[in-house]
Amino acid sequence: MPAGEHDLVVVANRLPVDMTVADDGSLSWTRSPGGLVTALAPVMQRNAGAWVGWSGTPDLEHEPFDGEGMRLWPVRLSESEIAAYYEGFSNGTLWPLYHDVIVDPQFHRAWWNAYVSINRRFAAAAAEAVAEGGTVWVHDYQLQLVPAVLRLLRPDVKIGFFNHIPFPPLEIFSQLPWRRQVLEGLLGADLVGFQRESDAKNFLRAVRRLTDLPTRGRVVTIGERWARPARQVRAASFPISIDSTAFDALASSPAVQKRAVEIRKELGDPEVLLLGVDRLDYTKGIRHRLKAFGELLADGRLAAPEATLVQVASPSRERVEQYRQLRDEVEATVGRINGDYGALGRAAVHYMHHSYPMEEMAAMYRAADVMLVTSLRDGMNLVAKEYVAARRDLGGVLVLSEFTGAADELTQALLINPHDIDGTKAAIMRAIAMEPTERRRRMRGLRRRVLDHDVQRWAEDFLTALANPRPHPRPLVED
Ligand code: G6P
Repeated sequence: MPAGEHDLVVVANRLPVDMTVADDGSLSWTRSPGGLVTALAPVMQRNAGAWVGWSGTPDLEHEPFDGEGMRLWPVRLSESEIAAYYEGFSNGTLWPLYHDVIVDPQFHRAWWNAYVSINRRFAAAAAEAVAEGGTVWVHDYQLQLVPAVLRLLRPDVKIGFFNHIPFPPLEIFSQLPWRRQVLEGLLGADLVGFQRESDAKNFLRAVRRLTDLPTRGRVVTIGERWARPARQVRAASFPISIDSTAFDALASSPAVQKRAVEIRKELGDPEVLLLGVDRLDYTKGIRHRLKAFGELLADGRLAAPEATLVQVASPSRERVEQYRQLRDEVEATVGRINGDYGALGRAAVHYMHHSYPMEEMAAMYRAADVMLVTSLRDGMNLVAKEYVAARRDLGGVLVLSEFTGAADELTQALLINPHDIDGTKAAIMRAIAMEPTERRRRMRGLRRRVLDHDVQRWAEDFLTALANPRPHPRPLVED
């Protein structure tokens, strides 16, 4: 296949821009919120970068174009491909399987076939875009087959893969009827990155048990029976982060601080403001959080509206059945709590099913006394990091599920097991009662970590590791 012109190509399910169609039918694009594009924009500009991804709109056929200082390379998906590859295999099979089977993953051969063919389409686009000897960085569970397909098309390029979500333990991963094909897909990469050490270990264990490839430490050797020349694949953890400095500055701006005061006022100046911010996803433990808060009100340990919970749940994957069910359940629970404990004009839970601009989120973080992150399983959880970055005032307490990737780093948070409702209630009460000295000490430690380890550093670490494989102490072992 002829080489393209981009030294660095990022491949992700979504493009880093949101599309809007004007009344006259013309298209315009604005940068999507999120740290990934912020982290990669400078390195993309330096390296004549391209980003291959889906526009988010069905059937949109569009030539590659320039935007955000890079080449944006749309991949078309039809309605039925979205249903089978995105809603189906990615979010009805892999997402629940990789998140501890919180809901049942569904295994459908037609979904798998769509996943294979769409992964090939993304790989073909990347192969067309990347320059001779260039680098391709593939992202996340939707595209696990891209590395191997791409390697066949373009053996000259370096390939990195980063999994943004957990990699499950072998006992769960083994349920997947296509487990071998997925491992072989990932092993097309030179470097496979994960959020946590335990994810990298789970992956290596799956490789050892489900393939006959030799592994030594974190290195898998692909011998000549599989690949000529023989090569090595490394697995390692690279915990992702946010654009901490920018978020810290935004949250400390006079406008955001003013808005934080206004928010508390609009809520009737509660004594204690608790906050939850999530995509409306069953992995986030929103029901567990509501149960704990509802019980604290029922027990009389908290009283509304002196204690108020704000829950922002941004709409997500609304055509997938489990997400619809979750929405119904969450909304019924919020209604019940407000029915039991609300007062005229003063709700106990303020529930919002939409997303907000970054400035408004920063103001909410700044206004909240206690941030509740209660995920049942979460690759990282960037909301926890945003809350910490927003608290230059050293106010606020983070209650954080130990089942998030963030818990490995944010050890000064109040760590909880969200399945333990009594434990969560105790942590909430402890957060509310925490002495200012302890609160400040904890927040100072959390901030040190988040400000030192930002998303720019994450991207640099990954790309440096990809570019400079450490020499292996032993020659390649033939299989
Ligand atoms: C998680 C995944 C991302 C995904 C995002 C939003 O963070 O790791 O790959 O893009 O959720 O989900 P969506 O299905 O809307 O892309």
